[in-house]
Amino acid sequence: MSDVYPVPDRVRIGTNNPITSMDTYRSAAAHAQNDPDQFWLDETRRNVVWRTPPTLGVSGNFRNIVDSPITWFADGTLNITESCVDRHAAEHPNKVAIVWESDTPGEGYNITYKELHQQVCQAANALSGMGLKKGERAIIYMGMVPEAAIAMLACARIGAVHSVVFGGFSAEAIRDRVRDCGAEIVITQDQGLRGTKAIPLKNIADQALQGESSVKQVLVVQRTGGDVTWVDGRDVWWHDAVGNASTEHTAVECAAEDPLFILYTSGSTGKPKGLVHTCGGYITYTQYTHRTVFDLRDDDVYACVADVGWITGHSYIVYGPLANGATTVMFESVPTFPDAGRYWDLVERHKVTIFYTAPTAIRALAAQGDAFVTKYDRSSLRVLGTVGEPINPDAWEWYYNVVGERRCNIVDTWWQTETGGIAIAPIAPATPTKPGSATLPMPGILPVLLDTDGERITGPGEGRLCIDHPWPGLARTVWGDHDRYGAVYFTTFRGYYFTGDGCRRDADGYYWITGRVDDVINVSGHRMGTAEFESALVSDESVAEAGVVGYPHPIKGQGVYAYIVLQPGVTGSEALAKELNLTLRRLIGAHARVDLYQFVPGLPKTRSGKVMRRILRKVAEGEPEKLGDISTLADPSVVEAIVAGCKL
Ligand code: WTA
Repeated sequence: MSDVYPVPDRVRIGTNNPITSMDTYRSAAAHAQNDPDQFWLDETRRNVVWRTPPTLGVSGNFRNIVDSPITWFADGTLNITESCVDRHAAEHPNKVAIVWESDTPGEGYNITYKELHQQVCQAANALSGMGLKKGERAIIYMGMVPEAAIAMLACARIGAVHSVVFGGFSAEAIRDRVRDCGAEIVITQDQGLRGTKAIPLKNIADQALQGESSVKQVLVVQRTGGDVTWVDGRDVWWHDAVGNASTEHTAVECAAEDPLFILYTSGSTGKPKGLVHTCGGYITYTQYTHRTVFDLRDDDVYACVADVGWITGHSYIVYGPLANGATTVMFESVPTFPDAGRYWDLVERHKVTIFYTAPTAIRALAAQGDAFVTKYDRSSLRVLGTVGEPINPDAWEWYYNVVGERRCNIVDTWWQTETGGIAIAPIAPATPTKPGSATLPMPGILPVLLDTDGERITGPGEGRLCIDHPWPGLARTVWGDHDRYGAVYFTTFRGYYFTGDGCRRDADGYYWITGRVDDVINVSGHRMGTAEFESALVSDESVAEAGVVGYPHPIKGQGVYAYIVLQPGVTGSEALAKELNLTLRRLIGAHARVDLYQFVPGLPKTRSGKVMRRILRKVAEGEPEKLGDISTLADPSVVEAIVAGCKL
């Protein structure tokens, strides 16, 4: 097997982490397994601010999630902004809460905890003044500006439920989400900026709200001063509504199990589902994992360069770090602007100690050469994290050797929108690492590998990754559709939460995620459903049928491959492929594009009409010789045509 890397001394010295060695890791994991209630009650009472401290641990059961939903700390009450803001504003008001790294290097600013408290209170007052009430929903459609985090916290402070929609999504995607959650308010900005490119967020939001809509008001941050469409009586500038509001606000008391936010994510079938995270369990789990995995220290400058539109941004830019009173960086730009040294320039200027990014970015930057890295002083760095997709050992080694100069340790963190926080990862000062492995489960996470018959695999082996017992960060339901939640996650393997990932366990008990085993594809760490692509493609009038699969891509992890059956009389061309990508952009968003198109006479189907996706995958992966049994196909000649055909 591959090398084991011990924890560098620099990471082991001077930590306050409760887990500092494999012995303390094993005893925490045993405690969390044997007495999860006590383990998590102790943790939350110590590190989360409660109005009414809970006495109850978990209830509910994976065997019958529909009648017996999961709850944690159900008799507690709190407002999570008192954990994220108020206590730090009182204890260390002048500590920097948010370092804003604007698109143009050097034009950002810092926000202290005292200022964050004032601004969250102002925004909470403004949102209440606009009529937003506890339990009602607000869509946040923004770029990476501090107001995005302030808006999330302000919603939480009044007990409203936010749903952040990534700033790359289209008007159609926003409309779907507004409808699904019945949002009252949209919070957006005039334009987003990414590498000098302006994204007309407000105008896209306006398109989404055309016609009948539940949205009564739109709150707009002015970022660029660019032109926007404006609806009088509905639209309000942030600087007017928030800037003039009082800086005093008493947070609304919430039950532990009140929803904190909805985040839409893609699955195997249908439209994205609105996963619901609740207040008490989520904040407990994100602060715990953030503090332990990254080995957070008082003077750390922590930079997660994800986007708040995804779960990584929620849990590890906003909620986890702020609950821990950390200094968290918000990065507005892209890693290649003004050049491929941007991340390391950011590290040098802000003296970043913990840096967290996706393997795609590491691969893309490694391909640009080491000089972009070595040009900058990275001596402040101590812990380097990755998330979102499997990291190949070469990229891991480059991150470790070149970026971290072999002084830092790498935490490859496996988790999902559903898990709320990191579930399998090294704990920086404790866990020896192996390049490409997410290593060991967090205390309280009980991973199980099952074979396709649902039998538990013990010891080394490879199977479907499931989790055996609820943990506080688990998403509780799908908004408005608890049955779908039960069906998607708890019926494939009865009694277990099914992750959708395949995984190998080695002789040391280390976990190696092998990727999705369902119809979800992971492109540059962005999670997308093949069904969403297919339904968008068939909406184009040239297309009769579409079959979309992932294939290995050297930089993006996976690329998107589409087999297209055209309507009679239409012929495939480069121009049509471009047009179809525009359709995807319009219906899903800027991040949704097909890398390779193949126009085919038909899709391989069984006699009962089911598309044999296995065949589509094998051809896209360039392994047509491994098609396996095709005798159940209705028309085997389709396969010959697919194998012989060319890609555009
Ligand atoms: C994949 C992102 C391998 C996995 C936090 C998972 C990973 C999906 C890793 C969730 C990792 C995430 N190693 N694969 N370290 N981290 N994944 O919901 O397939 O956007 O199921 O959450 O990303 O994606 P999501």
